[in-house]
Amino acid sequence: MSVEKLNLKDRTIVLGITGSIAAYKSADLCSRLMEAGAKVYPILTESACRFIQPLTLQILSKNPALTDLWYESEHNHPNHIQIADSADLFLVAPASANCIALFAQGLAPDLLSTVHLATKAPVLLAPAMNGKMYDHPATQANIQILRERNYHFVEPEVGLLACGYEGIGKLANVETILEKVKDLL
Ligand SMILES: Cc1cc2nc3c(=O)[nH]c(=O)nc-3n(C[C@H](O)[C@H](O)[C@H](O)COP(=O)(O)O)c2cc1C
Repeated sequence: MSVEKLNLKDRTIVLGITGSIAAYKSADLCSRLMEAGAKVYPILTESACRFIQPLTLQILSKNPALTDLWYESEHNHPNHIQIADSADLFLVAPASANCIALFAQGLAPDLLSTVHLATKAPVLLAPAMNGKMYDHPATQANIQILRERNYHFVEPEVGLLACGYEGIGKLANVETILEKVKDLL
């Protein structure tokens, strides 16, 4: 999709990134959202930081890449409620099985899940995981709970997964995610 077609000027997107090998693709996604004029606040879980450096997202988004719920007591950044309030879209790509479970259950043990509970913005999740994790009844039940709450999903694709299996669970490609962002905004 060309940048001309995707106009996100003055739109604020919280970009959540969770602990998946697909986390590296969030850098491309962030960069494309920025090109389209969006204001992007990246939030990485602790596990996401094992896969991608917060610095990459910080440089691409020109905003602090937040990782810690307690950062606001030490720094003069916007606090988690301000970030939640400012969002026009709460996007998590990749969304881990764990993050989907936390969201479905309304748990808030870290910054991303806390901002999730505090925002009124539409939520768009792009799951990425091993096919057995995706097909697990617990994951499917959690997805169903969220669908019933009008959460939006970008379906994972079928393909060769990083774990070596072939099947469903590959993060949707960035173009498909951007297409859905455009529909929602
Ligand atoms: C190499 C590796 C790759 C992983 N990839 C995924 C993945 O694609 N999706 C997923 O749901 N979990 C994956 N996990 C497991 C998660 O990182 C783990 O469940 C973690 O607790 C998720 O935390 P978070 O939701 O806070 O990011 C992976 C773990 C490892 C060690």
